[in-house]
Amino acid sequence: GSPERMARLDPHSHADSAQPRARHLKLRLAVDFEARRIDGEAALRFDAPAEGPLDLDSKALEILAAVSDSGVSVPFEVGPEQPILGQRVRLLPPGTREVRLRYRTSPRAPALQWLSPEQTAGGAHPFLFSQCQPIHARSLAPLPDTPRHRVTYEAEVEVPEPLSAVMSAGAEGEAPGAHPGTRVFRFRMPQPIPPYLLALAVGRLESRELGPRSRVHAEPETLERAAHEFAETEAMIARAEELFGPYDWDRYDMLVLPPSFPYGGMENPRMTFLTPTLLAGDRSLVDVVAHELAHSWTGNLVTNADMEHFWLNEGFTVWAERRLLEALHGEEATVLAWAIGEKALEESMERFGKSSPLTRLRTDLAGTDPDDAFSSVPYEKGARFVTLLERTAGRARFDRFMREYMARFRFTSITTEEFLGFLEGELPGLAARVDARAWLYEPGLPPNAPVFRSERKDALVALGQGFARGERPAASTIAGWTTAETLVYLQSLPRETGEAGCAWLDAAMGLTGRGNHEVLVEWLTVAAGSDFQPAFERLREVLLTVGRMKYLRPLYAAMGRHERTRALARRVFAEAAPRYHALSRRVAASVIEKYPEDPAS
Ligand code: BES
Ligand code: ZN
Repeated sequence: GSPERMARLDPHSHADSAQPRARHLKLRLAVDFEARRIDGEAALRFDAPAEGPLDLDSKALEILAAVSDSGVSVPFEVGPEQPILGQRVRLLPPGTREVRLRYRTSPRAPALQWLSPEQTAGGAHPFLFSQCQPIHARSLAPLPDTPRHRVTYEAEVEVPEPLSAVMSAGAEGEAPGAHPGTRVFRFRMPQPIPPYLLALAVGRLESRELGPRSRVHAEPETLERAAHEFAETEAMIARAEELFGPYDWDRYDMLVLPPSFPYGGMENPRMTFLTPTLLAGDRSLVDVVAHELAHSWTGNLVTNADMEHFWLNEGFTVWAERRLLEALHGEEATVLAWAIGEKALEESMERFGKSSPLTRLRTDLAGTDPDDAFSSVPYEKGARFVTLLERTAGRARFDRFMREYMARFRFTSITTEEFLGFLEGELPGLAARVDARAWLYEPGLPPNAPVFRSERKDALVALGQGFARGERPAASTIAGWTTAETLVYLQSLPRETGEAGCAWLDAAMGLTGRGNHEVLVEWLTVAAGSDFQPAFERLREVLLTVGRMKYLRPLYAAMGRHERTRALARRVFAEAAPRYHALSRRVAASVIEKYPEDPAS
């Protein structure tokens, strides 16, 4: 490459490793719901006096001014807009350690979703939330947006009353704002984090104590249900500490977002963000909390150097999540979780094609938007690779290895190759024995993938597969199923069960009326794929309110099978699109674009 590119280690960032590194970030943000903008000031402190050029990332930002710590104006130039990376901001500081930038975000900032009051539980106040992973922090503030550079941060956020702000940091109190009718919330994050873990949410929020180090925040209308759902959080943290070592982040608080949140959960440190679709009433979906909590070790302490090594983050976290699940609920429940994950993995492999380079663990993403590369592969193939290492080394030895690994790399961001080097040093020969090269650098799932079996699981799969031959579970059997068992059964059904099949399932299992979104969406996928009209109204309702991409993709895909559901999908999408998060909109649109043409659409 050109000399200018040589020092660029992250294909998704302009940050240059030869330049001083940002170590600390000081944010002053004023949230303007009318303009859907944040007026910001970002002060970056570097590890060495910066004698420009010093390159930052930005996306859809308006940079208004830059000054040094002594108040001297700092020359800067904003580069041309690049489709994935955004705009490079090149500073030319006069040998100072700190640069302060004044800027404004855009209403279209990909990190931010601005919700109207109708999109919230309370219906009376607007809501704002951020989602910075993988590369959207640059649209919230100008900074070197690569996990290779960790920063500590502090922030002051001015919001209109009666709203409050939460961040991925410790709360440091509040005070009246400079403008009438506003309040300022202060935060401090003393531990260095990759920029993708910056997070902010603003809304009509209240909180409830769950345990000595946990609270849940939510809109008042949702708070009771949330407190009940997540009441066992402290027990989960304590179990995780037994497995992975002390919890290092002080508090573990959670925020329940409005339903347009595009993910199940996001491991923002000290403030996990969660979809309200987890509020099933019976704590059956808290494996998402286990997953986000597990990131406190595998991810937030040791993360990927860039998105080409994303499996190091998510693969280890799914492995840790399932270890935690096993400790809490036993092996039988864990086998079912692996089975559900296997289904997701198969779907991703099919979507990309089994020989697609996107099914490698170590990916090559220059020129690829990491949001487009997102799939279950780094999660489920990654976790299977980690489990293979665990089984081959033996659990006791592997647990010692994990402790060493986290001690060695804590608060850093590493590559696949750094991981391999460490593995070879600690457990010589193991990588070769499991054919790590094939796992990491080749597409598809290697033949030595671990299998997760139990009689219970095999019986459920056989029962689902027997549906086409007329096999039906007894009412008493169905009544005894856990959420996970119900899911494994539904996932084993044929993708089209016919009108009568659907009617039987709905009557016997009460599926359309279910409030558990995992079960409901699995059912609606079958119903939509079978052109089952009685489920259309519920399907419409889910598509209009829920923005979780994990649900939108299979639902819109299943609706592509029949002309009637294709028409419904196009109509619902037209209505829902303005309310979807930009990511959800893109996923739904990409699925609908692949539909065949229909006569009158
Ligand atoms: N960090 C991810 C979410 C994410 C990944 C956001 C990449 C943006 C880019 C989070 O930890 C996650 O994996 N969430 C899952 C939970 C599941 C695996 C239990 C989700 O949202 O479904
Ligand atoms: Zn995760």
